[in-house]
Amino acid sequence: MIDREAGLSRRRLLAGTGVALAGSAMASVARAQAPAEPPPESDPDFAGPDHHPPEATTPAPETLKAVDWNWVRGQWALDWSWVNLSAMLFASNPRLVRTAIARHRDGLDANPVTYLEANNRPLQNAARQAAGQYFGAAWESIALVESTTSGVGLMYAGLLVGYGDEILTTTHDYYVTHEALRLAAQRNGAMVKKISLFDEARTATIPQIVGRLMGAVTDKTRVLALTWVHSSTGLKMPIGAIAQALKSVNATREPHRRVLLCVDGVHGFGVENETLESLGADALAAGCHKWLFGPRGTGVVFFRPDAIGRFAPTIPSFLAPNAYGAWLGNYDPGANTGARMTPGGFKAFEHVWALTEAFQFHNMVGKAAIAARTRALAGRLKMGLSQMPHIAVRTPMDPNLSAGIVSFDVVGQSADAVVRKLRGARVIGSAAPYARRHVRLTPSFRNTEADVDFALQALSQIKG
Ligand SMILES: Cc1ncc(COP(=O)(O)O)c(C=O)c1O
Repeated sequence: MIDREAGLSRRRLLAGTGVALAGSAMASVARAQAPAEPPPESDPDFAGPDHHPPEATTPAPETLKAVDWNWVRGQWALDWSWVNLSAMLFASNPRLVRTAIARHRDGLDANPVTYLEANNRPLQNAARQAAGQYFGAAWESIALVESTTSGVGLMYAGLLVGYGDEILTTTHDYYVTHEALRLAAQRNGAMVKKISLFDEARTATIPQIVGRLMGAVTDKTRVLALTWVHSSTGLKMPIGAIAQALKSVNATREPHRRVLLCVDGVHGFGVENETLESLGADALAAGCHKWLFGPRGTGVVFFRPDAIGRFAPTIPSFLAPNAYGAWLGNYDPGANTGARMTPGGFKAFEHVWALTEAFQFHNMVGKAAIAARTRALAGRLKMGLSQMPHIAVRTPMDPNLSAGIVSFDVVGQSADAVVRKLRGARVIGSAAPYARRHVRLTPSFRNTEADVDFALQALSQIKG
């Protein structure tokens, strides 16, 4: 059913185009590797600009006007004998990102100290700028982290709340949010309240979700801790509508009592055509090694500049320009920033620095095109599944309440058994580690209609 050979030969044909496009983009990234500033790590008093001048490292979104999805698919080095519907788990990288990682790895292997000194701060800041440009957010308020989990952990551990304050979350959120809140509350004394927003995701509505949430906000509520796209059912939360509803609550509150909207954004980030502004979140954490197909071990936390003062760093920063100066001079490092929220320490820098190319690749293909493609493939999958009597789809059909995750159950079979059988048919999906486990298939913009049809065909054979 899947014409993999056609895909492969087309890929070979188009490989040259890819190299040429990537080449021009990489040339401008390479220019960012010759910083004018001395490395702060070797000069503790150095308090130079926390800003490498913006480079035109990101081609305009128009670069690939009419998207050739075969070309896009050909940027991956996947084993094409599998149908990979697993974008929500762990990324493999497109060529542009692979090449950037390899270039930095070679530089570090040749001379780790000089390569690090020459590149570290400018390339971390270039990655923050690329993230800010991609997500319409102020780059100075972006922290670089290693995963969604570490981002969510830092976001909630850093909340400046205390005894008597309430944090409102839901029963639908993932382990990472619940556990980060539990651990944070043990230290800060705040109360974590969990509510249910619906019985079945499939039939949930936006007014119902917003109404239940706002109905649970009290005078003591300081934070809403939510997830953009639930990884159990694939329901996409109406974050924009929730932010809108919060505005009237916050309008009469002093700044330190305002309800903050904090989001685990990983399953919408790299999928949806939104910005931090359009969502209206105060803080959003997302791993970059899932739908964004960025380097493994990377993530970001976006803060609104007017909200970042409600958080404090947890791990000492190496990136803040006055980090060492404040330590040695024994003075307060000052207002919170994305650099201060970025954990310090030596890292797999070849991955951190290559984040820029991940955003570049998404911009090249186009955020709107990626969102539309993902929506179309997920819609096709949901439609096909809903026509099979032995399958119960758990994800809403409405694209306003869903993104790329498609969750379902096969009547009479455990989710794990179905995932195993799908593997036997060379389709990669997963089961969610929740109390109610569903099967999840997650088409992304590197998949084709044929991939979806192949998975549907395999599922039609998997009956109780
Ligand atoms: C909602 C949600 N948040 C966080 C994570 C963990 O992401 P990461 O591997 O980037 O820490 C997952 C699952 O992988 C998830 O489903």
